[in-house]
Amino acid sequence: MTKKQTLTVAMIGQGFMGRAHSNAFHQVGHFFDLPYEIGLKVICGRNPDKLAAMASQWQWEEVSTDWQKVVSRPDVDIVDVAVPNVLHAPIAIAAAQAGKIVLCEKPLATSLADAQRMAQAAHSVPNLVWFNYRRVPAIAFIKRLIAEGKLGQIFHYRANYMNQSGNSSGKSTAWRYQKDEAGSGALGDLLSHVIDLSIYLNGPISQLNAMTNTFVPGRDVDDAVSTLVRFSNGSVGTFEASRYGVGCRNRNTFEIQGSKGRLSFNLEDMNHIEFYDATLPGNLQGNSKILVTGPDHPYEENFWKPGHGIGYEHTFIATLGDFLTSLSRKEAFHPNFEDGLLVQKVLDAVEKSAQSRSWISLS
Ligand SMILES: NC(=O)c1ccc[n+]([C@@H]2O[C@H](COP(=O)([O-])OP(=O)(O)OC[C@H]3O[C@@H](n4cnc5c(N)ncnc54)[C@H](O)[C@@H]3O)[C@@H](O)[C@H]2O)c1
Repeated sequence: MTKKQTLTVAMIGQGFMGRAHSNAFHQVGHFFDLPYEIGLKVICGRNPDKLAAMASQWQWEEVSTDWQKVVSRPDVDIVDVAVPNVLHAPIAIAAAQAGKIVLCEKPLATSLADAQRMAQAAHSVPNLVWFNYRRVPAIAFIKRLIAEGKLGQIFHYRANYMNQSGNSSGKSTAWRYQKDEAGSGALGDLLSHVIDLSIYLNGPISQLNAMTNTFVPGRDVDDAVSTLVRFSNGSVGTFEASRYGVGCRNRNTFEIQGSKGRLSFNLEDMNHIEFYDATLPGNLQGNSKILVTGPDHPYEENFWKPGHGIGYEHTFIATLGDFLTSLSRKEAFHPNFEDGLLVQKVLDAVEKSAQSRSWISLS
């Protein structure tokens, strides 16, 4: 048997994404046939007690509370950035300058200037942004159906991302609600996913007009954002994101209408899509709910047999699996920092539009 190359990982962040990524590093070799072994070298966070427990639970070899020392260690190949948004730029740039493979959580940065510096720094190293929803099999299948022309000419792209995380008085001190740590609120946290998916599925955005709202007096980030968009392909769209979407746990939805039909998706029911085929005889037209777990669906080779659903964690495993496959073949991978920068340009335009109450054009 050929000996596999070991890629060692330093992960910065021990929170929610720290767990999701740890799981992906453990699982990726079980579901993807890769020429690499993954070595969980060091996990870095701020709280030493929690770090030790986390390292033991997820089998990280070492712990550290100093990311600056970790990112340039010669025994580290991959630096994975899973910390509050404001730290993405300094850590990712330092890691890229040290020649590491860099994986970074979304949104890429807290400002367009930082995102540009990050994309520049990462130019010469393999890199990834964790816009993991591209790898939901149902969404990858929608991408394929659109490419096959099943929707014809696209007219409408309607998307929203709602949760109710803000509707709780205890949250206001968390980093996600502080501009200096998060950059923005629902905008960077939730709408960044909506924007990335819309570009992935429907192409570049040419113009937008946006409104943001903050429900809590004195809070310096947005709680909700609404956007009207024009796409370069001539279609129009509306995007909405809110942390006050009471009744929604993690409702990331979109609906696309074209001359030949309609496709829709809801992350809360992530193994299904709805498809309305407007090319059928009128008396047969109707929304069909399709279970996207095979046969002939994306990732059916990697995960379970048809009819056996997958979950949130598989989106991270599939993202990492595709990234490592591309790395081994020396092929380009998306979404990378350039894709993260494109999203950041739209986030920046949303903020400018909301402030100036005007339409903004994107080149
Ligand atoms: N892709 C997704 O679906 C998704 C989902 C949730 C969060 N995220 C993104 O992941 C990132 C982290 O979010 P989270 O939910 O894991 O947050 P979290 O609050 O659960 O965890 C943040 C971690 O960062 C660590 N940290 C903070 N400052 C640090 C420092 N100076 N050095 C080392 N570690 C430090 C904290 O100890 C904590 O472990 C954010 O950018 C967020 O937008 C992405």
